[in-house]
Amino acid sequence: MTNNLQELVNQINKRLEELEYGTDPNELYDPIRYIMSLGGKRLRPVLVLLAYRLFKEDHDRIIDQAIAVEVFHNFTLMHDDIMDEAPLRRGKQTVHEKWNESTAILSGDVMMVKAYDLIIEAEANLKQIVKDFNHCAAGVCEGQQMDMNFEDLPTVSEAQYINMIRLKTAVLLGFSLKLGAMLANATESEANALYEFGVDIGIGFQLKDDLLDVYADQAKFGKQVGGDIISNKKTFLLLKALELANDNQSTRLNDWLHQSDFDPQEKVEAVKNIYNEIGIHELTMAKMNDYFQKGFEALAEIEVAEEKKKPLIDFADYLINRDK
Ligand code: IPE
Ligand code: IPE
Ligand code: MG
Ligand code: MG
Ligand code: MG
Repeated sequence: MTNNLQELVNQINKRLEELEYGTDPNELYDPIRYIMSLGGKRLRPVLVLLAYRLFKEDHDRIIDQAIAVEVFHNFTLMHDDIMDEAPLRRGKQTVHEKWNESTAILSGDVMMVKAYDLIIEAEANLKQIVKDFNHCAAGVCEGQQMDMNFEDLPTVSEAQYINMIRLKTAVLLGFSLKLGAMLANATESEANALYEFGVDIGIGFQLKDDLLDVYADQAKFGKQVGGDIISNKKTFLLLKALELANDNQSTRLNDWLHQSDFDPQEKVEAVKNIYNEIGIHELTMAKMNDYFQKGFEALAEIEVAEEKKKPLIDFADYLINRDK
């Protein structure tokens, strides 16, 4: 990450550390302080600031709206980890494991309220911002439900998968960028082009997340490697493997998908071997690159000096190459 980007991340973290969530009862608020203190890339608030900075310099004014999307994102993670039965988040125990599921549900709920508290201090375009935020939030829930539904289907089409990740992940990146544009009073077409850029790189971002879920170094990634394989998530990796497997590979893969009593590590290794035989890593990278490329094309349509777009392009490059 470039120094300039790191400076924005530092500024976001500084403001996040100052945020107060509440104290009574502590069982409700401690998990919020816990998840917010575990770090994370802070990429969504960075996108808000970078979009704003295409048009204006004084981004200090909008830090609270930028961190609203980070609080919202962390709320979705807290609930996502319950749904995915995930043991680890950012290298530490998940909230529902450290406390319990009821706490994770309720702490997550109050985080969503906090996100609204932060966003409604916007000085420009407030009504449109709240409408777009609501539309985005409902989309995330739709995507998350599709993700759960797909676990029980034998397979899904590539189009169904892309639509699911567009909703669960990409629309929040799109909204973050559009929010920055709206706060800077950019034109509607500029805001919409940034939204398109965000959705395209958001799809690329989730493809990379699916890839890292199988191939990352767990110590860096901070999440349980193989979690998607264990729960039969219909990731791009799995649906391509199902599509391209020969008879032998297809039999082995389907055997694992239908096992109900298995050693998790053994399943992860076996499925990963099938992916390796088929060349799934390369196929996923290629698909990810296609979506980032599409995003860069949307960004090129925006009529601001190329020099100003550089930080956004640098940031997208960092997302393409990330290992966590
Ligand atoms: C994880 O998001 C959830 C996905 C949409 C893949 P991040 O990879 O941005 O997680 P943090 O915030 O950096 O931990
Ligand atoms: C999460 O997708 C998307 C949301 C949190 C809305 P994943 O389930 O793949 O995210 P991780 O891998 O747990 O971070
Ligand atoms: Mg998850
Ligand atoms: Mg999930
Ligand atoms: Mg994932």
